[in-house]
Amino acid sequence: MQVITTKAAMRDTVRGWRQAGGSIVLVPTMGYLHAGHMALVERARTQGDRIVASIFVNPTQFGASEDLSTYPRDLERDLAMLNDAGVSAVFMPQVTEVYASDAQTIVETTDLAKILIGKLRPGHFRGVATVVTKLFNIVQPDAACFGEKDYQQLCVIRQMVRDLDIPVRIIGVPTVRDSDGLAMSSRNVRLTPDDRAAATILSRALFQAQDMAKTGITASRLRAWVAAHIGAEPRADVQSVDIRDARTLRSLSGPLTGPAVILLAVRFGSVLLIDQRVVTP
Ligand code: PAJ
Repeated sequence: MQVITTKAAMRDTVRGWRQAGGSIVLVPTMGYLHAGHMALVERARTQGDRIVASIFVNPTQFGASEDLSTYPRDLERDLAMLNDAGVSAVFMPQVTEVYASDAQTIVETTDLAKILIGKLRPGHFRGVATVVTKLFNIVQPDAACFGEKDYQQLCVIRQMVRDLDIPVRIIGVPTVRDSDGLAMSSRNVRLTPDDRAAATILSRALFQAQDMAKTGITASRLRAWVAAHIGAEPRADVQSVDIRDARTLRSLSGPLTGPAVILLAVRFGSVLLIDQRVVTP
């Protein structure tokens, strides 16, 4: 496995592979890998000949008051995991390699970036869309894998690729959960043991919501039920509960007629957890 830190070296490596005729799948990450990230790598393996994983804690997607400086890191372990998984190259540039100090250009999905998590984290999706565009231009993959765990992020990337004619196939991968149902996240390690136990309410509420969706309930009532159910957990500080069209993320209120996604953003202590589930009537 090659460990690459410069854009020039990454491009050279990819050029060599292309001349040999292989296809390339990119798995973008911010490191501190867990089984959720590794599920993306597993899927990538079935989609092309070479896997490139990137590890880059992207400063432009963190707000001023957010957890950039305390974002967990364990590079040695990450590299061992990627090596064992058969990744061909890891791209792990420094911030100054990625962003020139005089850079001016941004990529933004104007509507999708403003709603839901974009409302809680202004500028977040602009940072994501810009860095993913840059990674696509540096690595030039045929396909790239993203988790459904970050559902709105996946929608943003799909929209951006459509809008800008970026020739990369986007592959969505279902959320990997711990045995108690909590969606795996690098942020879970920062939960206190009590918050960790309380946070299982999120997946339990989402799974029950799927059963309720089959009963002919309206979207508004289902949303209200999920919000109340999670709100009854004293440790849960509900930031948002939304029910949206699973493809467009448009608001829903009436009877469910097709796939809908329930999106949760809930704080436990200082940690903001997100989770989602697509439900079908
Ligand atoms: P990061 O949070 O490291 O996540 C990298 C990828 O792993 C994302 O596509 C995310 O959706 C996926 N992922 C995380 N937890 C998962 C789980 N439990 N099950 C399935 N997939 C999971 O998302 C980012 O980094 C960044 O925003 C990035 C896209 C790399 C741009 O900086």
